[in-house]
Amino acid sequence: MTATSRLEGFYRLSVPERQRRLTDRYNLTENEITALTDGGLSLELANRLIENVVGIHGLPLGIATNFQINGRDYLIPMAIEEPSVVAAASHAAKLVRNAGGFTASADTPLMIGQVQVLDIPDVEAAREKIFAARDEITKLADSKSTLVEFGGGTRDLQVRVLHDTRVGPMLIVHLNVDVRDAMGANSVNTSCETIAPFIEKLTGGRVVLRILSNLADKRLARASCRVKKDDIGDDVVRNIVDAQVMAEVDPYRATTHNKGIMNGIDAVVVATGNDWRAVEAGAHAYAARSGHYRALTVWNRDQTGDLVGSLELPIVSGIVGGTVNAHPLAKIALKILDVKTAPEFAGVLASVGLAQNLGALRALAAEGIQQGHMALHARQVAISAGATGEHIDRIAEQLVAEKKINLLRAKELLEIGS
Ligand code: MEV
Repeated sequence: MTATSRLEGFYRLSVPERQRRLTDRYNLTENEITALTDGGLSLELANRLIENVVGIHGLPLGIATNFQINGRDYLIPMAIEEPSVVAAASHAAKLVRNAGGFTASADTPLMIGQVQVLDIPDVEAAREKIFAARDEITKLADSKSTLVEFGGGTRDLQVRVLHDTRVGPMLIVHLNVDVRDAMGANSVNTSCETIAPFIEKLTGGRVVLRILSNLADKRLARASCRVKKDDIGDDVVRNIVDAQVMAEVDPYRATTHNKGIMNGIDAVVVATGNDWRAVEAGAHAYAARSGHYRALTVWNRDQTGDLVGSLELPIVSGIVGGTVNAHPLAKIALKILDVKTAPEFAGVLASVGLAQNLGALRALAAEGIQQGHMALHARQVAISAGATGEHIDRIAEQLVAEKKINLLRAKELLEIGS
């Protein structure tokens, strides 16, 4: 049985006390605590991760509490600069926990690799030749892949023909690759590049692109949950459904609605060293798959009056490989999360996205987002004004009490030594 994620009063503890709680729970080492404290990335390591390094850019790492997913408790590491996100996720997870927790699932992690072929003398004949050589192509695709030894590899092949493009007909070969617990970009791209010369020979065409697709619609994750009407009130349930419907019919609202979902998902994706641009691109393309950009979640009231919600989206993220294994903080984040497989991780991400959306909608449908947000925002204003140490909280509290959360007033308060 896993320890509870219901850490009452965690937010009231000092940072060292919170670190101590994590140390006891996860047996964190001295080095891991030091990494949490200083960001974990040395300049030397940073210089090996990307090019032209001149420094290290830090982000706060917080822990969202209260998550229960498929009957298991999780503490959720979130790296994000925006105030309120961690608190809102924790609060929403508490509401859901009170009604049985999240249910989550994810597909087999199949990534799509694309090979684009142009200038083909006979497109239909080329399609048939590719199908006839299916086994050979699959074998070739896996010949340089590191996935095979972990039980992954190419599972299937598809051919799409786009007849009317500006540069003539185009044949696109799709490789469906099981990437197991990895994000999979490098393996899939390698497979695409490996089969390209053979595809050219088979089709008599010219290959240009050989790259994965971020519209990973064979790698979907789902989460669903319930919130008891007595926990938020009938009116709030009704308002949340009204807000949901607006996000179904109005792309201006859908974009903001989905941004709220991604606040949660991205924060975990970043904390674990995954590529958040890949997840973002997939999510928004999936939201527009009907030709109309709309909400990724669905919220309804059930027969008992409770609120029920669900979310489905592609999750292109892994728990091994790339930066996930190279960044010391990503490794600690995964240790805290303690997920065993990429599909389990994807289900957790979908649950966090659903919670984040619930947190935003609940506030928007009730007191409004600013009341809670501005109190936290006041701290950023105080820091921008130059406040340090205990002055940050003192000035922020004063700004909130005066209902004047602006830089000018923060500077005045700093000068008069509030
Ligand atoms: C802010 O980062 C996210 C929200 O705008 C999401 C939403 O409106 O649903 C609060």
